[in-house]
Amino acid sequence: MKLLRINFRGVIITDKQKKEQCPQILLLNQIEMRTTMKAQKSNNTFFEHLKNQNRDFIIVFVILYICFCHVTMLESPKDQSRSGRPTKDDRKLPSNPEEVEDLRRDSAANPLIAFTFGELKLITGNFRQDHLLGGGGFGNVYKGLITKDLREGLQPLQVAVKVHDGDNSYQGHREWLAEVIFLGQLSHPNLVKLIGYCCEDEQRVLIYEYMSRGSVENTLFSRVLLPLPWSIRMKIAYGAAKGLAFLHEAEKPVIYRDFKTSNILLDQDYNAKLSDFGLAKDGPIGDKTHVSTRIMGTYGFGVVLLELLTGRKSLDKSRPAREQNLTDWAIPLLKEKKKLLSIVDPRLEGDYPIKGVHKAAMLAYHCLNRNPKARPLMRDIVDSLEPLQEPEDVQNEKPVLTVIHGVADGQLKGKEGSM
Ligand SMILES: Nc1ncnc2c1ncn2[C@@H]1O[C@H](COP(=O)(O)OP(=O)(O)OP(=O)(O)O)[C@@H](O)[C@H]1O
Ligand SMILES: [Mg+2]
Repeated sequence: MKLLRINFRGVIITDKQKKEQCPQILLLNQIEMRTTMKAQKSNNTFFEHLKNQNRDFIIVFVILYICFCHVTMLESPKDQSRSGRPTKDDRKLPSNPEEVEDLRRDSAANPLIAFTFGELKLITGNFRQDHLLGGGGFGNVYKGLITKDLREGLQPLQVAVKVHDGDNSYQGHREWLAEVIFLGQLSHPNLVKLIGYCCEDEQRVLIYEYMSRGSVENTLFSRVLLPLPWSIRMKIAYGAAKGLAFLHEAEKPVIYRDFKTSNILLDQDYNAKLSDFGLAKDGPIGDKTHVSTRIMGTYGFGVVLLELLTGRKSLDKSRPAREQNLTDWAIPLLKEKKKLLSIVDPRLEGDYPIKGVHKAAMLAYHCLNRNPKARPLMRDIVDSLEPLQEPEDVQNEKPVLTVIHGVADGQLKGKEGSM
């Protein structure tokens, strides 16, 4: 009796069961078949009946197997994109300030000003060429001034206006939006402040606080400016590290994927602020956080620290072949005290604390470890750089800049600066 009951359950299945319970039913059928074989041996009177049953089993088994494969294919992750779900590229980007604010509603900590394109023309003197601060992958950046009479309630403020170059690419608009979203919710002394944006027709513009000394790239590798003193280099490294540590330790960590000297901007007092969040993405939350941010953040930091130490660009095609890639050339020399001094920026003319140089070099060495898990956390880097800072009052006594007339706007203005 028991045998018959099992057979009954295995053979008669509804369509719904076929879809939902295929694996289980298959298993059940295998058990059934084995049980049936045993029953054949022990009870010959059922022989003919069981032969027919086995044939039925094979037919059902084949049907169920086909059904099982079909369901598994439908659930395969590879096929999800083909199953009609929206892909990343299908998602609609906002096309006006209302839609931008709708998107920002849940996350926005900072109020942003939605400028009209007409207002930006006034701010930048109609994007005058002599207001041009530079240009990058996104488009040109202009210096601008918000005046009191631009709009009621606005305070006078110098700004940098970054204009998307108008290719209207999805990528450009997506980066613009990422910048608005990330910088709209983050606020820290070492992140450049986003003042507002413009989203009008095809125009996509970002309006930042103006950083009067431009980028670290322009300042560190300039042929016309005086070399940055060691203490300023360490101040820049410290500020940038604090910015990155803040991002990594945020409630929702942010992986800043574009860490390089051109994206570290300097205010009048050489406070470093990170800019360009177009490539940033949310970091993992929970256990995996530190692993991923180590990989993404600290190697890049090691490269920038090495650039500050040596005064060389991470890639410089104008140098002899074996010196073109900075990390390949410098890493083997970082650990040897005597050789280390031979790679420190010669423009410093020996004006640096040897112990400080050694510590900074060891820090760069650890950041550049091939094994991502062996690299320090950003917080450890901040702690290591802290003792390498000169007290502000000592820094203030050192003259660091001399005016060179005709230097591009945003790099230098005024006479004999001092820190
Ligand atoms: N807030 C700002 N204040 C002053 N100058 C700025 C500001 N933002 C950008 N700049 C200047 O504009 C120039 C271009 O910046 P942008 O970020 O567009 O390009 P990039 O960083 O050189 O290249 P990439 O597109 O790879 O980021 C930089 O050299 C920088 O000096
Ligand atoms: Mg940039």
